[in-house]
Amino acid sequence: MNTEEIVELCKKHTLYTWSATGSVNPLPIDHAEGVYIYTTDGRKIIDFNSQLMSVNIGHSHPKVIAAMKKACDGLLYSYPGTATAVRARVSKLLAILLPDDINTFFFTLGGAEANENAVRAARAYTGKQKILVRYRSYHGGTNLCMQLTGDPRRWANEPGGPGVIRVMDPQPYNFSFGDNEEEITRRNLQYLEEVIMYEGASSIAAMMIETVTGTNGILAPPKGYLKGLKELLKRNNILLICDEVMCGLGRTGKMFAFEYGGIVPDIVTLAKGLTSSYVPLGAMGVSDAIADHFRENVFWGGLTYNSHPFALATAEAVLGVLLEEKMVENAAKMEGVMREEMDRLAKKHPSVKEGRAIGLFGMMDLQKNAKGEPLAPYNGSHPAMNALSKFFIDNGLFTFVRWASFMCNPPLCITEKELRFGFEIIDRGLEITDAAFEK
Ligand SMILES: Cc1ncc(COP(=O)(O)O)c(C=O)c1O
Repeated sequence: MNTEEIVELCKKHTLYTWSATGSVNPLPIDHAEGVYIYTTDGRKIIDFNSQLMSVNIGHSHPKVIAAMKKACDGLLYSYPGTATAVRARVSKLLAILLPDDINTFFFTLGGAEANENAVRAARAYTGKQKILVRYRSYHGGTNLCMQLTGDPRRWANEPGGPGVIRVMDPQPYNFSFGDNEEEITRRNLQYLEEVIMYEGASSIAAMMIETVTGTNGILAPPKGYLKGLKELLKRNNILLICDEVMCGLGRTGKMFAFEYGGIVPDIVTLAKGLTSSYVPLGAMGVSDAIADHFRENVFWGGLTYNSHPFALATAEAVLGVLLEEKMVENAAKMEGVMREEMDRLAKKHPSVKEGRAIGLFGMMDLQKNAKGEPLAPYNGSHPAMNALSKFFIDNGLFTFVRWASFMCNPPLCITEKELRFGFEIIDRGLEITDAAFEK
């Protein structure tokens, strides 16, 4: 098949996510290696978003491919009620990687199912129903996860079931809780305490947060927030669920983003980087207290592909590579390079409002004037942002451009040279948004 046939058939016979399929212009990918993707029409493109912020160890890692091939010669499926060596090894490895108190896992196919089961576990364990979530969040595309989600993808999926309470983030979109991080934390937690009072602590099972908000802004929690939040929730007998589907497993320069806050959640959810997205796999990890509950009480959840041996064999190889090749450490080291490049571009280009990075989790915001108004509104677009998006791909850089921002989330194996190369393309592209800057 040539490129045109591939694109035409994909558009004719499949639906594309979060869009009207007719308006999609899909990138025809043939293969990928390391930080590069290669199109069917012969283009080489640097992957500045690890596809869906998920190919953490880079594309087509030979050690993982070898392990996957080997796994094909072994057991390819057994039902969830069985015990397998790979299930034993991977769950033990995760128990070692996660802090002391989280030692028990439920494996799913992806992040949404991990979050669904986290809510299920929290409700069953506490005997309470309501879940607190924040507006600047994405937690998955299933019905419940759409309600847990704050961003506009929820709107068309409403109304969902009852019991989800959405609250402001420490960083709302259009105003500030204060001038410095301590103030922001203090006021946000004070506000949250009042919400808990009105909603009734006796009816709230858990609060789910993205430890570092991903798609909705790459927002690291302000100083003291995670500690304060954990204490507030604990005081009110409410569990903390950290969704680390995107920010976990090295993305932020630590294995888990909650390590930055010096806390351990009651439940953590993982996916994406768990297999570097080579095959579908997610996981919910629970504290010993919750695990003990389900040793005595039925866990009313199941999936045909729970603890899938092939997915777990892939995860084992991916985690091995992540550790052996010190990619988490590399993400921490490359943060400095990323910040330096972002600062350089912010000084040079009037349309750059700011760049943020924690590990290799980065975003740049664009502004339309010196007042710092976003170049495109919340959930909106601007011709210059569309042109920037086209420039990036036409000039060999793949990333997500959304509203007034674009992502900088390359695979964690990226070298300094490759990272700077990506920012050179970005540098040239920003002339487009500079031209739209109102002087
Ligand atoms: C923070 C977060 N949680 C959950 C999900 C849902 O994961 P999945 O698409 O694997 O269901 C995503 C996906 O982007 C995510 O970013």
